[in-house]
Amino acid sequence: MELHTNSPIGVFDSGVGGLTVLDECLASLPGEDFIYFGDTAFFPYGERSVQQLRARSLRIVDWLLGQQVKLVVVACNSATAAALEYLQTQREVSIIGVMAPEAHAAVQASRNRRIGLLATEATVASGSYERMVHAHDAGAQVTSVACPKLAPAIQNGDAFDADLLELVRDYAAPLRKAEVDTAILGCTHYPMIDRLLRRTLPGVTLISSGEEIAREVHETLERKTLLRGLGKEGEYRFACSGDPAAFVELGSRFLQMPLGKVDQVDVDAVTAS
Ligand code: DGL
Repeated sequence: MELHTNSPIGVFDSGVGGLTVLDECLASLPGEDFIYFGDTAFFPYGERSVQQLRARSLRIVDWLLGQQVKLVVVACNSATAAALEYLQTQREVSIIGVMAPEAHAAVQASRNRRIGLLATEATVASGSYERMVHAHDAGAQVTSVACPKLAPAIQNGDAFDADLLELVRDYAAPLRKAEVDTAILGCTHYPMIDRLLRRTLPGVTLISSGEEIAREVHETLERKTLLRGLGKEGEYRFACSGDPAAFVELGSRFLQMPLGKVDQVDVDAVTAS
């Protein structure tokens, strides 16, 4: 497979959550082109099995390869936990996932070595974050909380009301009890409600994927000499598997940037190129 500096970077998530990763990438890699795919017809990934997530993620990677991407970013913790290693063994393109950089950042940030994790059921059940944290600090204490209702509330565009605050408070309670000083937001949807999270976890350092992944993407492209210069402002475009109008509505609200035309793509119809 031939790689070109001018090719775009592919990013995907189950919905709008990966926009929190894209947002950081757009800011720190302004010369790059990006293609973002939101798998809204298959949302939520947090309830899917490992087999389902592997099969679905591979189809998405194949669609992105059809768009000639030079790098794929799995901007979803649930898909990373279930499928990253599988994807990397199945295709030639470099594929970067979330999780590892956040786990490292959490170990670096924690002073009392008590780290909290808020994530989907799939991510918590995988035990991946515990393993990654312990690879950097075998003695760190990890308190993990599965938050099955949180990503759907954000993806549905629920109001930032008292009910949502109460939900966040319930999920945060075990972290407060464990006196964590650092919490990993182990789902790319969660930074979209970081004000609520900061309110319910006062004094706790919140670690999310966006910045960490943007740094990882930058370093990877630089080392592979695939980084595009700043000569021209990069372009970005979006596709999703569900209703494009709903994606535009929610996506532009969270990204605070125009999304342009969003294509609807049936990844079930994609064949490996
Ligand atoms: N954004 C996805 C993640 O990071 C989760 C949302 C979902 O359940 O699909 O895990």
